[in-house]
Amino acid sequence: MTGSRPTSLFGNTSLLEPSHVEGDPDTRLYTGDCRQVLRALPDAGSVDLIFADPPFNWDVKYGDWDDDLPREEYESFTKEWLDACIDVLAPHGSMWVNIPDDSAAEIVMHLKHRGMSMVNWCIWHFRFGQCRQGAFITSKVHALYFCKDPSNRTWNPDPILEQSDRASIYGDPRTMAKETNKGMRVPMDVWYGKYWGRIQGNNKERRHSHRNQLPEVYLERVILSCSNEGDLVLDPFTGSGTTCTVSRATGRRSIGIEFSDAIADSAWDRIINVGMIRKDAARGTSSAIAPPRRSRRADEAASDA
Ligand SMILES: C[S@@+](CC[C@H](N)C(=O)[O-])C[C@H]1O[C@@H](n2cnc3c(N)ncnc32)[C@H](O)[C@@H]1O
Repeated sequence: MTGSRPTSLFGNTSLLEPSHVEGDPDTRLYTGDCRQVLRALPDAGSVDLIFADPPFNWDVKYGDWDDDLPREEYESFTKEWLDACIDVLAPHGSMWVNIPDDSAAEIVMHLKHRGMSMVNWCIWHFRFGQCRQGAFITSKVHALYFCKDPSNRTWNPDPILEQSDRASIYGDPRTMAKETNKGMRVPMDVWYGKYWGRIQGNNKERRHSHRNQLPEVYLERVILSCSNEGDLVLDPFTGSGTTCTVSRATGRRSIGIEFSDAIADSAWDRIINVGMIRKDAARGTSSAIAPPRRSRRADEAASDA
């Protein structure tokens, strides 16, 4: 057992009570080790979507949690929570894991060995990584998207469409002539752009007592595309509460699990009292990295003149 919480707390499943509860839509936060809470949840087999952003074992101060485990112990911990997540996921469910380079391969291998299917290996790209001289600067985290059954998963592209490069850079009339979704496309698997940066400094979303808070737009994309209104979303590593905050704002029920009491209390304040700050702020916009060029029609007009 890692950290200081007594293991006996969840030895008897009837003792499992959320530390925080609110309705409309139902939102629950459990305080404890997710490996034990997941095993005792009354919702086993009926969770529609899991988003997991675990401690990376980078010696970050997360309340009572020891984030500097011997590597073997960290890998066992990782497999244990992954297995517990698979067990609570519904047969049509999807699971996302946010993880850096040093553990991504191990997680992918384990999920594949457990019969999960990979749908996408996305990259969250951010600027302002830690400056260093001896190797390239880290500017990404992996966003691994797995499901239990590729022929039966929830996938809603429409709410997450973005303006295509064809429309925003080239002004190509063919994309505007489409029957539906004129000028729009499903986003690529590398995610970046306005509001997609790491949450730090004076970012409006920032919760000062939390470490490694994810941007709301990231969770909005995952939740809108991989669940329906009224579905149940679960986050085994709540942190500042981004997943439950965005779930509530988008009409999803949610369960958060957090090891530290103090972090859980602060997350709950955000989830219930602050809410989502950038709802819809980035939806439908372009992620183009080149400025608009003159349209073909303008070029033709110029050459006719
Ligand atoms: C990387 S942070 C999550 C950040 C979150 N995605 C956000 O946007 O704020 C990981 C969190 O997991 C918690 N944690 C660590 N080990 C845990 C465990 N075994 N069970 C539940 N929570 C745990 C830490 O206290 C920390 O708050």
